[in-house]
This record gives sequence, C-alpha cells and structure tokens, in this order.
Amino acid sequence: MKTRICVPVTADTVDQAIVDLKQAEKFTDLVELRIDFIKNIDIGKLEILLKNKTKEVIVTCRPKSLNGNFIGNEKERINLLKKSIELNAEFVDIESDSDNGLIGDIIQNKKNTKIIVSYHNFKETPKLEQLANIYNDIKKLNPDLIKIVTFAGSINDNFEIFKLLKDKNDLISFCMGLRGEISRILAPKYGSCITFASLNEEKVSAPGQIDINEMDNVYNFSLINEETMVIGLIGEHAEHSKSKSIMNPSFKDLKLNFVYLTFKLTTDELPAFMKNFRQFEFAGASVTIPHKLKIIKMIDEIDETAQKIGATNTIVNKNDKLMGYNTDYYGAIEALKEKTPLNNKKALVLGAGGAARAVIYGLKKEGAGITIVNRTKEKAEKLASDFDVKFSEINNMKKLVIDNDIIVNTTSVGMVPNINESIIKEDEFVSGKIVMDIVPIPPNTKLLKIAKSAGCQVISGNRMLLHQAIKQFRLWTGQDPKFKLMESKLKLTL
Ligand code: ATR
Repeated sequence: MKTRICVPVTADTVDQAIVDLKQAEKFTDLVELRIDFIKNIDIGKLEILLKNKTKEVIVTCRPKSLNGNFIGNEKERINLLKKSIELNAEFVDIESDSDNGLIGDIIQNKKNTKIIVSYHNFKETPKLEQLANIYNDIKKLNPDLIKIVTFAGSINDNFEIFKLLKDKNDLISFCMGLRGEISRILAPKYGSCITFASLNEEKVSAPGQIDINEMDNVYNFSLINEETMVIGLIGEHAEHSKSKSIMNPSFKDLKLNFVYLTFKLTTDELPAFMKNFRQFEFAGASVTIPHKLKIIKMIDEIDETAQKIGATNTIVNKNDKLMGYNTDYYGAIEALKEKTPLNNKKALVLGAGGAARAVIYGLKKEGAGITIVNRTKEKAEKLASDFDVKFSEINNMKKLVIDNDIIVNTTSVGMVPNINESIIKEDEFVSGKIVMDIVPIPPNTKLLKIAKSAGCQVISGNRMLLHQAIKQFRLWTGQDPKFKLMESKLKLTL
C-alpha cells in the first residue's frame, strides 16, 4: 500500500475553497474539504464545492468541541455528511466521539463512499496499549479506515504511533505538533495509509502540518518507503537546522534511499530516544547542542578522534552497533584550508568549550601553533594542558590579534539572538588576518563584519558546517556527495 498525501482545504468561503481545491489538486490526488471552516455551510454550498472537484476528496465537518469550527447542531452536521455520501464524495470522516448509532447509520448507508472514523487527542499521545484499545473499539464499528491522531509532547511519542501502525492496513496515524513532524514524514515507512500536508504555511489545519512543497522539496517524500534509512539531527533546537536542506538533495542525487530529519529533544528525553533509535534501527545521526558529550555514554564505541576531542557529533549504526565520530574538527580545518595552509601558522582560539576542543585538535594535527583565550581563564588553562598548547589572559586582545595569523571564535558570542555582540572589538583588529567564526546563524556575524572592514579575510560558520556535513555523509553512506550541490543548497538557506 502506498501512503497517500492529503491536502486540507480550510478556506472560510466557498469561492476561496474552490480556488484552494484547484491549487491543491495540482499537487495531489486527495484533498480534504474541511467544510466546518466554511461560514454558514449548508447543503447548497456543499453541492457547489463537490461539483468543482476533479480528484478524490475526504469530507470532514469537525464540531467546535473537537477543535473544529462547525457551530450548528449534531443533526445538521450528520445531514451534511449524509449529503456528501449522496453526492459521491470518495471519503467521509466522522469522529469516534460521535454517537455510535449515528456512526453506524452512516456506515450502513455509505454507498460508494469510504468511511473514516477518527480519534484526535490534542493534548498528548497515549501509550501503545491505550492506543490499541482505541483502535480496537473503532474497528468494532467496521469503518473502511481508522484515523488516530495525537499530540506529541515529546519526540518519543512518535514511536508509540509507529508501533501502533505495525501490521495494520486500515490505519491513518501520526502525531501533531512540532515534535510530531517525523511521524508525518515517515508515514510511508511505518504504514500510515494517508498523511496530511498543508497547501502552504498559512493554510495549516493542524499543528505541525508541513507544507506540501517542503514535504517533497526538503524531504523527498515521494521517495520514502519501508526500506528508507532514517538519519537525523539530535539537538535541543534541531528544528533550526540547515542540514536537512543539504543532506536530502544529496541523497536524492545519488539515488540513496535515506531521509534526513530533525529530532528535537531535551537532555531528559535523550536516553529514551536512544533506546527508540536502536529499536527502530535508525541508520545514523548528527548530534548538536547540548548532547555532544552526554550521548557518548549511550552509544557503543567512539573512534580515537572523538575520544581525544571528548565529544561526538556523528553517529553511525553499523549492524546495530552505534559508533561515534567527530567531524567538527574536519569541517573547521577544511574551511580554514580554503584560505591558507595551516602548518606553522599561529592561531588564536577564542573559547574553551566542546567546539574549541574540536578546532584545537584539528589545528594541532595540521601543525599550527595555538594560543587559547577564554572568559573563564581556568578552562583555557585546563584545555591548553590537555592539548599541550599555550593559553593567555584576555587582557590585551589587540596584541593577541597582532601576534597571530588566524583567529577562530568558538564561543557563542554573536549567535542569534545576540547578533550585535562581538568577542573582539573594532579597535582591536588589524588587517591581514584570517578570521573564522564557527557560529552559523547569522552567516555574517558582527565579528566577521568588523574583521572584514578592518581588512581581514573572513570565513563563515557555514563553511565549517558544509565541510563537516560532507564527512558525515561519507560516514553514513560510504559515498561522496557533490560538493557544488551541497554548497548551492546551503546558500539557499542563508
Ligand atoms: P560548545 O560545546 O558549543 O563549545 P560550551 O562548552 O558551552 O559550548 O562553551 C561555550 C564557550 O563560549 C565557553 O568558552 C564560554 O566561556 P566560559 O568558559 O567562560 O563560560 C564561551 N562564552 C559563552 N558566552 C560568552 C560570553 N558572553 N563572553 C565570552 N565567552 C563566552
């Protein structure tokens, strides 16, 4: 069974609904007519609407009590659904909360229409056992399709839905909300008969609905199937990631059956997520703030580089063994090497966190001389001793700038939302230096702007992101993505 993608029409007038219906039919062969959105909907308006369809439709009329907009009484609502059957709508959706007698009546008199009985939970995702009970209760009514849609408070809720979908061919199921996005995208992998996507960002009928262009342009939705290997970014703010926009086109380009998603989760959710990650045999992951250190305890092995750096940003599932790597150092070094060879260069590293460790590891490997400075001096001192390099106080930044060839900011100073901050001030710069900021958003940080106007060469955090992504891609797939393709896709996100 191939998962169908359904676009809801949520206009509040019949005229606009017809415009949206025509537009939706360009993208898909299944449209949901949310007639409850249409002001003063009546049989006449319903008739006009259904006359204008050229593809299949689901007619839905959600009452106010179930987050819908229909304000008429139950008899009027049921009459609209019955009329839809008479007018040969391909599907009619009726809520499982409706009177069982009414649902039974609709099902018995369904003619050529298929009846979907739906359950929505806008607060949470019940556990699998409860979901299975809901499914079995609805099944007793003998509908054609069952729809179970819940709200994901956590990324881990999606896995309850994936378990529920197993071995069923009459179920539409996914999670709503930002954290439920992966269940909408992975509907073809886990077997939801239908997934819903909005016509555009403004015309969303439920939280977390992705727009239909994004489904295909970003996630290659039409290529996802049961065999698709799942990779994603594990991070607390993963939804802002640009990686999905560069990884997915490269998978498609090389005809690799992979999809790259975002796994938005907190530290508290990480252990359960990693259990699910193993159970569902996800193929790999990128790891970002704040999980790069904690995740080490939850995987099976890390390579020597990740061990030396003390952080992992890449996971590869090798025959159920989770391997950890660090590609940040490689990204930083490749980005710098686009401008200059590093051997015997003097490099000033600002900051002493995890990112600094990766940069220092890479610079050292290339034979650069390194000086670390950090707001908290003790951390700089400790890091300098770990890597056997120099550290300095920050009391004379100008002299530090003059004394070095390369300056790398690894602190979060200047990152959104603090875009007007710079760790080095205007009067502390001199010309002729190479300045890299690892902050990827904004692409042109205050530090880089100041450096450029002082006559320095600048490197954006996006170059590092790009190079490290290429290395990750290789680790997951064993193949080289096209550099130019990734570069152009990244540019589109800026
Ligand atoms: P990451 O793993 O991404 O490197 P981190 O380990 O939290 O993140 O490190 C953040 C770095 O940015 C630290 O060096 C931090 O300095 P402290 O060690 O003094 O905390 C530095 N940093 C963050 N905000 C800063 C600020 N406003 N001024 C100067 N340094 C800052």
